[in-house]
Amino acid sequence: MNGNATILVTGGAGYIGSHACVALLEAGYKIVVIDNLVNSSPLSMARVKAITRQDFAFIEGDICEARTLDALFKQYSIDAVMHFAGLKAVGESCSNPLLYYQNNVAGTLTLCKAMKAHGVGRIIFSSSATVYGEPHTVPIDESFPLQTTNPYGGSKKMVEDVFRDLAEADRLGDAEFWRVGLLRYFNPVGAHPSGMIGEAPNGVPNNLLPYMLQVALGKQPELTVYGDDYPTPDGTGVRDYIHVVDLVAGHVKALHFLLDENNASGCHTWNLGTGQGYSVLEMITAFEAATNVKVPYKIAPRRPGDIPACWAEPSKAQREINWQAEQNLAQMMKDSWHWQCQNPEGYDA
Ligand code: NAD
Ligand code: UD1
Repeated sequence: MNGNATILVTGGAGYIGSHACVALLEAGYKIVVIDNLVNSSPLSMARVKAITRQDFAFIEGDICEARTLDALFKQYSIDAVMHFAGLKAVGESCSNPLLYYQNNVAGTLTLCKAMKAHGVGRIIFSSSATVYGEPHTVPIDESFPLQTTNPYGGSKKMVEDVFRDLAEADRLGDAEFWRVGLLRYFNPVGAHPSGMIGEAPNGVPNNLLPYMLQVALGKQPELTVYGDDYPTPDGTGVRDYIHVVDLVAGHVKALHFLLDENNASGCHTWNLGTGQGYSVLEMITAFEAATNVKVPYKIAPRRPGDIPACWAEPSKAQREINWQAEQNLAQMMKDSWHWQCQNPEGYDA
């Protein structure tokens, strides 16, 4: 099967999903998007159409609604699913775990049942490096033990378990229905080089780069650096930041793998990271160098739940799906800033 395949993109109006829509359309795929817009704007879809000069169907709907999915699979001939739809705020998941298990886990089960009923077995799932919890060492490869520390992470691991069990049931029954790619993202940042789509967090951001962008814009007075006493070279937390355009290129490569009948069916897991860690202080320096904008900051105690260091061993994806990240930190900073300057209020302006 080639690029003429039709891909259902759940959560396609969101940050990563909208970039995936661009990558899929540019690779020659047709797409159908479903999103309930709980954390996104329909404007992102208009921008994807403007960037690619291509049209596609958008369904404002919820993956938790079986009837909506049934109608969608009846109306469109879907070859594979890219499943981004989910809630992702760690703090909110701790205060409202039911919401996270319902939306992220039960929603995925509803999606899987609809896929099974309509004979669609190929799916790429947005997992996260959060499933590794606090790793015993870095870099982290796909064989590391899984342990989660909050309901958001728990929901990702549960969905992974579901897909591993579906693949195992196929194996035991000598069937080859499910072809699954579990993609474990490290820390996605950056934006499309056009500056037309990017991350638009609601309210005050929790993540480092979105917060830094608000400080640079003057919307927040200073960045709080959470902890300078970690066992890392400069004492601040180290993460593997990956450009969102590289990340979605990994999805297209994973899709090629799943669509190729010569490749093994079942459940495949790939880390999507650069393999390089940067500290919070290095991130500030890199942002200032790439943009010429100062980021005032203060040091504060560690943020509860944070781990010292986390970066990927990404060679499995390179070996098996021929993917590796290409963009450096300076490009991530430039593209994030370009998006933020063009859209200081996100999509709301
Ligand atoms: P996002 O919030 O921008 O996008 C998620 C999209 O899903 C949103 O448009 C939202 O409206 C939609 N959605 C949520 N629940 C839905 C439902 N029940 N039905 C239909 N649509 C629904 O988040 P993102 O950063 O683009 O993340 C995409 C996926 O990647 C998520 O599953 C997230 O957990 C995962 N992930 C993200 C990161 C990250 O740092 N951004 C890291 C690891 C994994
Ligand atoms: C967080 C989530 C993780 C999720 C990921 C991507 C937590 C505990 N973990 O990971 O589950 O998958 O986002 O959405 O929320 N930092 C500051 N000041 C800030 C913000 C962050 O110093 O204002 C530091 C953090 O301590 C950390 C680094 O910057 O060392 C990155 O933080 P962040 O962007 O929130 O990502 P993670 O903590 O890796």
